[in-house]
Amino acid sequence: MTTSSAVPAPATSAWRLMTPPHPDSLDDADAWAYRGIAETHAAAEAADTGNADGAPTPIGILVGMNNQKYLRKLRQVAVVDTPAGPQVVGSGFMFLHVRSNPELAFGVVAVRPEHRRQGIGSALAQWIQDTARAEGRTTLLAPVDFGPRPEDGTGETLTPASGTGEVAADLPGVRLARKLGLTLQLVERRSRIDLPVLPEAISRFEAEARAVAGDAYRVHTWTAPTPEEWIEQYAALEQALADDEPRGGLEVESDVWDAERIRGEDATIAAKGDRYVVTAAEHVATGELVAMTMLQWSDDKPEHTNQQSTVVLKAHRGHRLGMLVKAVNLREHALLRPAARRIYTWNNEENPHMLAINIALGFVPAGGSADFQGPL
Ligand SMILES: CC(C)(COP(=O)(O)OP(=O)(O)OC[C@H]1O[C@@H](n2cnc3c(N)ncnc32)[C@H](O)[C@@H]1OP(=O)(O)O)[C@@H](O)C(=O)NCCC(=O)NCCS
Repeated sequence: MTTSSAVPAPATSAWRLMTPPHPDSLDDADAWAYRGIAETHAAAEAADTGNADGAPTPIGILVGMNNQKYLRKLRQVAVVDTPAGPQVVGSGFMFLHVRSNPELAFGVVAVRPEHRRQGIGSALAQWIQDTARAEGRTTLLAPVDFGPRPEDGTGETLTPASGTGEVAADLPGVRLARKLGLTLQLVERRSRIDLPVLPEAISRFEAEARAVAGDAYRVHTWTAPTPEEWIEQYAALEQALADDEPRGGLEVESDVWDAERIRGEDATIAAKGDRYVVTAAEHVATGELVAMTMLQWSDDKPEHTNQQSTVVLKAHRGHRLGMLVKAVNLREHALLRPAARRIYTWNNEENPHMLAINIALGFVPAGGSADFQGPL
């Protein structure tokens, strides 16, 4: 089939749901659907958050669908038929943890702005609910992304029961989530730092952190793949993060992390063409890795980088290790990616220590994600 998802379709066309074809590569004719899904998420995100930096890439979708070992992923698209073939106008995505959270399903719906209010979002949400129930899941978790708060700060907002963070109640995704009977359980803050960060500022943060951490710790920095020497300990740090991260009112158990999973993640990152830099801190006396932070990016998105995990083991908190690994990693990132314009990071509003480090480094609020959960 020779189709292009870029063909414009009249907004009033009839639409239908279908399972998107899974191509072997993006060069296949069948890749129209994954390209269309990426474009749909980018258009929806630009409309609702003011910026499409967080949208998935076609290669990210393809590689993600090829990797079903820890998270089983399912997709549905709403298409409008055009003379050139189907055009994706809506995307339904869900994933199910394979090794944890047997009751939970995650679901995300996005509809192109010019095709909204025709029932497409509801139909895709219905597909997610029906599929999750058929899989034996009893709880649905749906994140709704939002942009920076309007300057005037007016309008009704929602706050999770646990009390921190807020989201505008009139956002389309919030309206849909509430209509589905889901309730707001956690607000995650997205923050942005514009690059370059002055090298003198990074050096100052690093020096201040080193003054507290002293000689008891030394840092190591690496790019992909994770050195075999550290892989077990690195997996243990990911597990500690999964176990410790505050989750507000969300009922989610931590997922399972081991060396095999880290190797799998490295393979996935390489297959997507993504790259990363990690800085970790070793406790010299024991040889144990006790802190780490990762920055990851796609060369397809030259302007921005995403902060991934940052964790300091409980027994080693209070020594400025979070600031130390972040400052060193920012410096290394600047060497690897001098043209990047900004870095994004995500924090639970209920994680004040991590937020404080990011604010000190110069991150500013840039919207976030409101996590809704409820019974199926
Ligand atoms: C949320 C979204 C998927 C809705 O898509 P849609 O095709 O317009 O959805 P529907 O036409 O089926 O409307 C669904 C319900 O959402 C609510 N809603 C959505 N947009 C609304 C708006 N602008 N004003 C009022 N209500 C709205 C309504 O309750 C509506 O039901 P109703 O028409 O019976 O009142 C779409 O706006 C979108 O892509 N937003 C960005 C991504 C997102 O937030 N996804 C949801 C989180 S998983």
